[in-house]
Amino acid sequence: MNDAIKYIFTSERLGFRNWNLTDIDKMYEINSDEKVMEFFPSIPTKEQTTEFVERMKKQYEEKGFCYFAVEKLEDNQFIGFIGLSEQTYEADFTPCVDIGWRIKSSEWNKGLATEGAKKCLDYALSDLKLKKVYSIAPKINVKSEHIMEKIGLKKQYEFEHSLLTNNERLRTCVLYQTEIK
Ligand SMILES: CC(C)(COP(=O)(O)OP(=O)(O)OC[C@H]1O[C@@H](n2cnc3c(N)ncnc32)[C@H](O)[C@@H]1OP(=O)(O)O)[C@@H](O)C(=O)NCCC(=O)NCCS
Repeated sequence: MNDAIKYIFTSERLGFRNWNLTDIDKMYEINSDEKVMEFFPSIPTKEQTTEFVERMKKQYEEKGFCYFAVEKLEDNQFIGFIGLSEQTYEADFTPCVDIGWRIKSSEWNKGLATEGAKKCLDYALSDLKLKKVYSIAPKINVKSEHIMEKIGLKKQYEFEHSLLTNNERLRTCVLYQTEIK
């Protein structure tokens, strides 16, 4: 398929598209890498990965955004996700739309997450006309926090994540947002 038709939008090195059910196995492989899941409470099962892909696909169809499936333009290889998703867990700033990322470890340290996140943020503000975008990560996930800073988000505060209350290592999270508090 022609790249211009295949992708919703592109950045210099990446193409962003909705999910296919054929992505499930590749996403499951990424999710099964302990390095990738270091800052999550558990490794997702195949069923949880399937549920995630189906939820993202539906969210895109209904809202026009999701954590997009991401491919490298040079070889059309699927490398994970970067994008936007609604969050409804209990917190002072929810319901909201956040920006997030998960890339296969062999593709780290090439600046791909930052490049993709910048493009998604621009898409959210300029095309989707969202007023605010948030980003959340456990405080110990410093690489992720650094991406938030590199794409120009502003730190709001630290908080205890309501879905991680039993996880002492992960529950303290940072909240970033497009606006200064
Ligand atoms: C967090 C994660 C997305 C980072 O991916 P990444 O693509 O390596 O991140 P970056 O875009 O910050 O790039 C990393 C480094 O590549 C380097 N780099 C190499 N080539 C580059 C280029 N052409 N342009 C920019 N940076 C480049 C930079 O030095 C950059 O580091 P620095 O700017 O912090 O010094 C990835 O580690 C991941 O998927 N982790 C698991 C999932 C996760 O934790 N998600 C967040 C949950 S809250």
